[in-house]
Amino acid sequence: MAIVYLNGEFLPADKAQVSVFDRGYLLGDGVYEVIPVYAGNAFLLDRHLQRLQNSLDGVRMTNPFSNETWTNIINKLIAHNNGGDQSLYLQVTRGVAPRDHLFPADTAPSVYMMSNPLQPVAESWKIEGIKAITTADIRWMRCDIKAITLLANSMMKQLAHDAGAQEALLVRDGFLTEGSASNAYAVIDGVIFTAPKDEKVLPGITRDLVIELAAKADMPLHERAISVSALRGADEIWISSSTKEVVPVTLLDGEIVGTGKPGAIWQQMDTLFQQYKQEVA
Ligand code: PDD
Repeated sequence: MAIVYLNGEFLPADKAQVSVFDRGYLLGDGVYEVIPVYAGNAFLLDRHLQRLQNSLDGVRMTNPFSNETWTNIINKLIAHNNGGDQSLYLQVTRGVAPRDHLFPADTAPSVYMMSNPLQPVAESWKIEGIKAITTADIRWMRCDIKAITLLANSMMKQLAHDAGAQEALLVRDGFLTEGSASNAYAVIDGVIFTAPKDEKVLPGITRDLVIELAAKADMPLHERAISVSALRGADEIWISSSTKEVVPVTLLDGEIVGTGKPGAIWQQMDTLFQQYKQEVA
């Protein structure tokens, strides 16, 4: 049984209980992070903690812990679950209060963390690429906040699944924003494009790393909006996230992307990414 952390205690997952009055449960009022753990080390932890702070600020919640305390708890949870490669999930909700849309005064936030073995993406994803669909981005206008309220994301991911695809690429006003659970990229004439950081996309930690790795390797990359028509004509399409790293998309809405195989620029980025992981570990 996996060990989880709940409000100050480490305990078996089946013993962890939260109140039905928790605002996370009733209102989806909380924020979260998903942090990959490689060889027992939380990857890019400082960046995840900074984004958590930004999400908490965005929803006017006080950070319950200092970064030092977060780091201690996270490292203990990783050790309790036997180190190795894990996917660590943490969430902070506004806590337990009578149901009301207004924020309660002086309610202690609820803090929950779990960590499970990291499931690497299927080998075939890197050899063949994945299928994606495009769909209207039906989310709110604060997608930069990593809110636990994921109903829209779930609905869009389910649409992809129903179409036999692995990810939905989201379109708002004719432009690609990101994936239902990933950031997205298009490679056009040797240049990598990804949507700029604003309230329409999550500032992905993996996205930031991709941008830095591209800059170091002199690979041209622009943070610029990609129109759907440009997306459809792209030579390569990728997605990225903490749990999936960087994955090529080779079929979009049933149409072949580029050559129909993972592209050379994706291959170069994946190599840089794997090297970086090794160096950090
Ligand atoms: N999601 N955009 C969305 C909407 C996401 O849900 C995610 C990741 C990303 C990528 O961000 P990062 O590189 O920091 O993981 C972008 C996580 C993995 C999840 O919800 O499970």
